[in-house]
This record gives sequence, C-alpha cells and structure tokens, in this order.
Amino acid sequence: MDKFIINGGRKIFGEVTISGSKNAVLPIMAATIIEPGIYTIKNVPILRDTVTMARLLEIIGAKITFSDNQLIIDSNNCNNPIAPYDLVKTMRASFYVLGPLLSRFNEATVSLPGGCAWGPRPVDFHLKALKEMGAKVNLDYGNIVITGSLKGSNIKFKKISVGATGNIIMAAVKADGITVIENASVEPEIINLVDFLNNIGADIKVFKDKNRYVVAGVDKLNCLSEYEVIPDRIEAGTYMIAVALIGGKITINNIIPNHLQIVIDKMLDAGVMINVADQSLTIESSQPIKPVNITTSEYPGFPTDLQAQWMVLMTLAKGESKITENIYKDRFTHIAELKRFGCIIRLEENCAFITGVDKLKSAPVMSTDIRASASLVIAALKAKGESEVSRIYHLDRGYENIVDKFGQLGANIKRVK
Ligand code: EPZ
Repeated sequence: MDKFIINGGRKIFGEVTISGSKNAVLPIMAATIIEPGIYTIKNVPILRDTVTMARLLEIIGAKITFSDNQLIIDSNNCNNPIAPYDLVKTMRASFYVLGPLLSRFNEATVSLPGGCAWGPRPVDFHLKALKEMGAKVNLDYGNIVITGSLKGSNIKFKKISVGATGNIIMAAVKADGITVIENASVEPEIINLVDFLNNIGADIKVFKDKNRYVVAGVDKLNCLSEYEVIPDRIEAGTYMIAVALIGGKITINNIIPNHLQIVIDKMLDAGVMINVADQSLTIESSQPIKPVNITTSEYPGFPTDLQAQWMVLMTLAKGESKITENIYKDRFTHIAELKRFGCIIRLEENCAFITGVDKLKSAPVMSTDIRASASLVIAALKAKGESEVSRIYHLDRGYENIVDKFGQLGANIKRVK
C-alpha cells in the first residue's frame, strides 16, 4: 500500500488548478445509461472513484474511453442491469446506477452498499421513493432487486440526501408522468447533474430556494456533443484550508466562488486574507488563526466534506473552537490520528472541541477515509520534520495529482510504495 513521506514546516507559494468535481461527475456518468447514445464529458478528474464508475458502466455494457480529462461513454449496448458487490463495496456512489438502470430496463440488481469508516450509510430514502414510483423492491443475498416501470409521483424526503435526490431525479426523467421531489438536495453537484440531464432533453424544473424539483417524464432523451463538469469545491476548499494552516500565499484557479461562499466567510472570520476573482481566488495567511466555530449542514451550509480539514486548521488557532457535525454524527475518525501530531481535541457526541496548540509535531499516521486523509496531509505539511501518511488509497479516490499539486507549491511530499 502506498504512503506519503512529508517533510513539513515550509510555507507554500504559487498557483494550483482545481480538477473537475468527483461528486458531480459520478452521477453524470451513471446518467448516460438512461438513454442509449455516445456522450462526451469534459473536465473529468482521473481518480480511483471515476475509474471504478467507468468499470461499473463497462460491466453494464457501456464502452468507455478516457483521454486526458475527457471521457467518451458509448451506452448503446448496455444490456446487464447489475451492479456487483465487489464494486459497490468499494464505492457507495455505485448506487447511482440504480435509477438509470430502472429507467432503461425496468429492472436492476444493485448490491446493498456497505458502511464506511464512519459507520452505516443507509439507502432507505432511495428505496422508499422508488417504491412510491411503482417499483417492487426485494433483498436477495445482499442485493437489492428492483423491477417495475416507473410512474411520476410526489416524493418528499424525510431528510435531505444528495444521493437519493440524484437517483430519483434520474429515475424520473423518463417516468410516466410528473414527479415532484421535495426536501431535496440542491448541492452544486446535483444542480450540475440536472443541468446535464436538461441538456440531453430532460424536462426538470429547479426551485432551488424551496429544495424542490419538478420532473416531467419525456419519452426520449438525446445524447449531446459534449458536457463540461463543474470544478470540485471540496478539493478547492481543501487547498484553501491548507495554505491557511501551512502559511504562504497561493492562487487557486478554476473555481466557482459562490460554491465556496460559506468557506470564504469562515476563513475571513479566522483572519485569513482572501481576494476573490470570477474564477479564482488568492489566499494569504501570515497572521495567527482565530478560533471559529462551524456546524456542518446541507448546501449552502458548511460542507461535511470539509469538516476534517477545518478541524486541523483550528488545532493551531489561538483559543478554543467547536465543530458540530450534523450530517454524519460520527464522522470523527480523523481525531485519533490528529492527536498523534499533538493536537488537543475532545469529542462529545457529534461535537468536537479543539484547543489551539503552538505547533504540530511530525508523526506517522494512517488515513481512514477520503477527507480525513486530506486533513492528515495538511497537518503533516505544517509539522516540522518528517511525517508519514499511510493508506493513501483513500486520498486517491478524490484528489487528482495531489503530490504534483502540492509539490508545485513548494511542499516536500513524495509517494512511496
Ligand atoms: C454524498 O454522499 C457525497 N458523496 C459525500 O461525499 C457527502 O459527504 C454526502 O453526500 C453529504 O454531503 C457523493 O456525492 C458521491 P447523503 P451520499 O445521502 O449521497 C443519511 C466525499 O467525501 N441517509 O446526502 O451518500 C446519511 O446516512 C463523500 O466525497 C439516510 O439515512 O450522502 C447521512 O446521514 C463522502 N438514508 C445523510 O442522510 C438514505 O437513504 C446525508 O447522506 C440516504 C442518506
């Protein structure tokens, strides 16, 4: 298993370009199953998760060609509505093929996703909504087996769910009639999926301020010449937090600033200097970090996927801060590892209390999930001396070229087998 050897304590300077959004491109890739055709998708990050999704689409019968960050998907010959356990267990987002398979084949067999580092990740919202649309759902040997032709229906989610919203929108675009989806996710990644679907002929009305979509089923979609995926706001936020902690000055290119508004606001509160342009921002950190509390919530709230990174920033703040995790109550596997750098963090249920220290001490640490591992890399880049971050296959799921990108900023980081 690969690991990073990091010599920390050096400030970072220069420019970094953000890749396409993992959490936008995964459902868009799945959506190409709905209507047979040839789809060209641009700004696709080459990651373990996008490669896994490509493999899954090939198992279903699609032909995929990656060339640089462009993906060509030919879904004309899809004929196998099955998503096997060995793929779904490595990537929960495989569940995104459920809606598209049902829409195309009126049947789907998708393995029930397992849990992840921070506990169970249920899919009851997805299944309840599909039943309301007329599907029959059975569990057979760990697989969800679903059959039925989908009808428009009024869906109201008990809790906002990114994945369930994406799945039901994809199930509804060719369903018979109108589907109204309430208490839905309006994360930029889902808005990007909706934009892609409308570009290929779907009829989806978005009521963002009401967390509502109205999908009028159409008979046929058309494939399109090419579609560009939005930049990854979580990758961008990770680099913003990195320079705030490590010190220095960097320009982050290829972003959509209003996707990061809450992060910009919180960093300004923490005393970081930020200059926002229309597709980039320059961020400089030269003074002590002020303690700033955050509470994670659905968009446009503070993203849970930046919670671990924010925590590591607060470990050097001048004072006490509090992080409340409302999306995944137990998403704190990074705390034990951060303590190995000398951080002082106390956990009470879904609240972490951080007491700022003067410096971080280098240490060997282990990644536990994709965003926790990013927080360990940032901490190691700050701590003077040599640190080791193991099990970085977690990072490879969601951060394209992270060694090159930090290397170009002057960081001393290398990957060893
Ligand atoms: C998406 O996961 C993201 N993944 C996650 O990012 C992100 O953390 C999460 O949304 C929240 O923003 C992708 O987009 C591929 P949810 P998803 O359904 O869709 C509960 C990363 O780091 N829930 O919005 O699986 C669930 O347990 C990953 O890139 C149910 O109870 O998340 C959680 O508490 C990690 N039943 C809450 O809803 C369900 O049927 C939100 O989960 C579905 C969800």
